[in-house]
Amino acid sequence: MKNQIDQLKRAKNAVILAHYYTPDDIQSIADYVGDSFYLAKIAKQSTADLIVFCGVSFMGESAKILNPDKKVLMPDLSADCAMAHMVKPGVIAAMREKYADLAVVCYINSTAELKCLSDVCVTSSNAVKITKALPNQNIFFVPDRNLGQYVARQVPEKNIILNDGYCPIHAAISAEQVHMEKDKHKSAQILSHPECEEEVLALSDYIGSTAEMIAFVKKSRDQEFIVCTEDGVKYRLMADNPGKRFYFPDPRPCCADMKRNTLSGVLSVLENEDCTVELNEEVRRRALLPLERMLKLAQ
Ligand code: 13P
Ligand code: SF4
Repeated sequence: MKNQIDQLKRAKNAVILAHYYTPDDIQSIADYVGDSFYLAKIAKQSTADLIVFCGVSFMGESAKILNPDKKVLMPDLSADCAMAHMVKPGVIAAMREKYADLAVVCYINSTAELKCLSDVCVTSSNAVKITKALPNQNIFFVPDRNLGQYVARQVPEKNIILNDGYCPIHAAISAEQVHMEKDKHKSAQILSHPECEEEVLALSDYIGSTAEMIAFVKKSRDQEFIVCTEDGVKYRLMADNPGKRFYFPDPRPCCADMKRNTLSGVLSVLENEDCTVELNEEVRRRALLPLERMLKLAQ
């Protein structure tokens, strides 16, 4: 299957992008693997005719928003992110009524429709930098309460209003699970994604996006790590760091939607060019503005 994918990819001038949470075999055939910010940048720069996006729907949508003239294919269009829907448009409208100078800062893990209602997008690797750079004093951070809370702690000079969305995978990691791993592996460093609950972040030696955690481990002289994020990152951690050891909370965090990306799905979309990401042009045009503002402010 890998050979067939490779041949079709070359014949059709396609590029395969994959997130670190996708299955190992998907990461092994992808041209680019990265965190949400890196993948959005790569999608924007791509000169390929076809983009095969192995991730969840908000990632495929972002690639399409940035590349209206390209075909963006996803191995399984039903792969979605629960958090991407966790703020109601009416709540954003009501907040805008309340604060005249409000900036709606929207985590990229959101639907295109929610991006349309926002002033700027952010990812976990640039949320602090971008929020600080905004001229607005009042910020409504949507949809993730945990990333919002993490940003609020780093940007105390602003009034950051939180929304009650969350990632079910990261929110299920408890302080107790982390303590249990730490008891077994006393010298391990604790790494966490900012989508984790505050009680987990409080125990952590390092907090960052998937790519930032991977970079941290590569540079670190430590040998053991407790990794509080989705278990797909283990593939790159092991490949980059033979000899270092990685432990995950029990039960191991696993995003079933990310695991919908399969080799047979990639082969099928390359063969048939179906499962294309489609967006209403008005929605695409409006959602482009906060995404482009993110790319500019993150530079
Ligand atoms: P990052 O890869 O940007 O850290 O995002 C994590 C995530 O939840 C993607 O769905
Ligand atoms: Fe969404 Fe969480 Fe899955 Fe990431 S891990 S895609 S935030 S549900």
